[in-house]
Amino acid sequence: MQRLEHKIALVTGAARGIGAAIAERFQQEGAHVIVTDVDAVAGQALADRIGAVFARLDVSSEDDWARIEAQFPQIDVLVNNAGITGFEGPFDGAPPAHDPEHATLADWRAVHAVNNDGTFLGCRYGIRAMRTKGQGSIINISSRSGIVGIPMAVAYAASKAAVRNHTKSVALYCAGQGLRIRCNSIHPAGIMTPMWEPMLGDGPDRAEKEAAMVADTPMRRFGEASEVAAVAAMLASDEAAYMTGAELSIDGGILAGSAATPGQ
Ligand SMILES: NC(=O)c1ccc[n+]([C@@H]2O[C@H](COP(=O)([O-])OP(=O)(O)OC[C@H]3O[C@@H](n4cnc5c(N)ncnc54)[C@H](O)[C@@H]3O)[C@@H](O)[C@H]2O)c1
Repeated sequence: MQRLEHKIALVTGAARGIGAAIAERFQQEGAHVIVTDVDAVAGQALADRIGAVFARLDVSSEDDWARIEAQFPQIDVLVNNAGITGFEGPFDGAPPAHDPEHATLADWRAVHAVNNDGTFLGCRYGIRAMRTKGQGSIINISSRSGIVGIPMAVAYAASKAAVRNHTKSVALYCAGQGLRIRCNSIHPAGIMTPMWEPMLGDGPDRAEKEAAMVADTPMRRFGEASEVAAVAAMLASDEAAYMTGAELSIDGGILAGSAATPGQ
């Protein structure tokens, strides 16, 4: 028995990385998947490969969401996954400063437009598109950075904290309305996806950089996108019927200890 049979699931930022892994897993679990992304070429290719449909969606655009609402007025599962750090580039010179003393308002707003406005607009659509059936599952991809401070990526950290809290407001709102629309957040850390490429580079020191980045992770490795997808599949399924407003970390144990590394 597939866990998501007969469910329609829309995933944002699904052309690659965690979103792509979630889309693929949902499809394997029997869902009808709508892959969405700003990258139409990679998004369409992924959709063709896994047997899903593709629709272009910039999550920060209210007009794009209105088009999605007209095209897909009813869904069962929504994953608000699209997110940026602000370090994607390419840049003319060095990457921009994202510390609290030097970050520009424009750079701050650009990150919030995708991570925060995108999640707000997504949840608003999700509630409307699940209201007819009165049930469904909204999954917001936050981050470990939404729980602890990240001094060199303040817009990212603040936006992910907002995603964490908005999840709980949505969960309470839906429960208060007598709807069985659940809303939960997933908090990954150190998942090997193209998001890390600008930080790892392709130089001879790549392996060294990778090892340094997971040195403080209790499990001493990066996570796989498929491991996040497994958690999303559980939250999307009816097995999680009593879970709402919850936050699930998938971080190799980082947040389990205040100093991260056990035994030190
Ligand atoms: N990889 C990690 O270690 C990690 C850790 C914590 C949280 N996350 C979160 O997981 C989510 C996915 O991350 P990833 O590592 O797969 O990133 P990624 O950069 O590999 O993929 C992000 C996808 O989002 C798309 N995207 C960017 N802006 C968009 C927009 N405005 N509208 C629609 N799509 C857009 C990109 O085209 C891309 O396909 C993000 O929200 C990220 O913050 C990732």
